[in-house]
Amino acid sequence: MKRIFLHPLPIRIWHWINAASFLVLIVTGLQIRYREFLGLMKFKTAVDIHNMFGFILIFNFFIWLAYYILSGKIKIYIPPLNIKKFITGCVKQARYYGYGLFMGEENPHHSTADNKFNPMQQMAYLSIMLLLIPLQLVTGLLLWDVKAFARYIDIFGGIKIVDTIHVFLFLFFTSFLFVHIYLATLGHTVLAHIKAMFTGYEEIEEHVH
Ligand code: HEM
Repeated sequence: MKRIFLHPLPIRIWHWINAASFLVLIVTGLQIRYREFLGLMKFKTAVDIHNMFGFILIFNFFIWLAYYILSGKIKIYIPPLNIKKFITGCVKQARYYGYGLFMGEENPHHSTADNKFNPMQQMAYLSIMLLLIPLQLVTGLLLWDVKAFARYIDIFGGIKIVDTIHVFLFLFFTSFLFVHIYLATLGHTVLAHIKAMFTGYEEIEEHVH
């Protein structure tokens, strides 16, 4: 068994605060939307908790951004600029998830600290971190005080547009979580990748060829 260091402490802290906040925001968001149906808590309580965790998520996002920009490690999120390399990398990876995995093949991508993500992860994580989460945070902030931010809401095209973006992104993130958690269980044991996100170290089985 080989141990490689993959996840620096600031990223592990960011990741688990992010994951816990997302779960709280999803539940309180559903409660806000389906008041009597869910009945988990009072409407006002759901709104207060949702707002509080929204601000935690905003603050936490800047921890992620500061770490990756200041360390210069943001490179690991950028997919290969060579289109052919990018497409063949994605096809190889998708073939592995849909077929190779079940035939006992090895994952075609071998993570290291400088090359942590396969091209599919790069594409997904880059759009999530630099487009979708910021858009969710901005639309959430505008909905938090619609009077104070009326001018900015108009720039987006009105409250209906802002609200629709926020709800569609909720649908995206909820679906993403299922896929993300499934993929997180595909290490050499079910919990290997998840444990690595706590300890920083991924354990790799060494294959004798
Ligand atoms: C209970 C829920 C979650 C679990 C069990 C989980 C698990 C994991 C694991 C095991 C990794 C390391 C493997 C990898 O790099 O792909 C990871 C990385 C990552 N996860 Fe999650 N995750 C959860 C929630 C989330 C949420 C809600 C988001 C964002 C909306 C998210 C975004 C990410 C990102 C961007 C990375 C790469 C971080 C980096 O190394 O820079 N995760 N997650």
